[in-house]
Amino acid sequence: KAPALLKDVNVMITAGPTREAIDPVRYISNHSSGKMGFALAAAAEQLGAKVTVVSGPVNLTTPAGVNKVAVNTAQQMLDATLNQVASCDIFIACAAVADYRVADVAEQKIKKTDNSDEMQLRLVKNPDIVATIAGLANKPFTVGFAAETQDVAHYAQDKMARKNLDMIAANDVSKPEQGFNSEQNALSVFWPTGHQQLDLADKSELAQQLMALIAKQYAAQ
Ligand code: PMT
Repeated sequence: KAPALLKDVNVMITAGPTREAIDPVRYISNHSSGKMGFALAAAAEQLGAKVTVVSGPVNLTTPAGVNKVAVNTAQQMLDATLNQVASCDIFIACAAVADYRVADVAEQKIKKTDNSDEMQLRLVKNPDIVATIAGLANKPFTVGFAAETQDVAHYAQDKMARKNLDMIAANDVSKPEQGFNSEQNALSVFWPTGHQQLDLADKSELAQQLMALIAKQYAAQ
């Protein structure tokens, strides 16, 4: 059994995709399955933490002992995290949050028209959840993810600085065997004074390695 490195530490993790409605039957989303976030939740629970996962729509069983808050949209995910942040020691943003939502959600199903081959959707920016949490005066130890398709280390370190994060775990999502909706992943983890590469492995194994790193940096702060 793993040592209780995070005994009674409150950990909140965002997981999965968000869904942004277009009309009552359509939405914008992405390929996140929630597997990475749920694996982190299980790994944190194994280390003795009290874990809440704030999750978009996923098809996964919630790990034993983990509290799940189900949401759909980015705004709902932000509200749910803000609701619990006062009692949160470590916040991990693993969700693939839609950067934009539809400006005017149609109340009725949008009809196909005969007089044009085009239609346009106007999008507006969603709030940035991890940056909002990391901007709070009493912020928890905050860990972000970075999903990149090129220059992974450069963009990840830039995101860590811009969003005021304590750590960032970057994955190269251009590779088919890792990242979104795969069983495995590989991560380049950065913090202000260090870096560690976590090689390709099952998400459950990788989550244990990442949680051990997070626990170490959290204890060292
Ligand atoms: O769910 P899986 O299928 O297991 O796949 C795992 C994963 C690929 C989704 C995961 O490993 C991952 O990379 N998650 C972050 C995806 C993402 O949206 O990355 P980003 O580089 O666009 O965002 C950077 C960070 O800001 C992330 O911590 C993200 O959660 C956060 N963010 C982004 C936008 C927003 N509006 N609010 C946020 O909090």
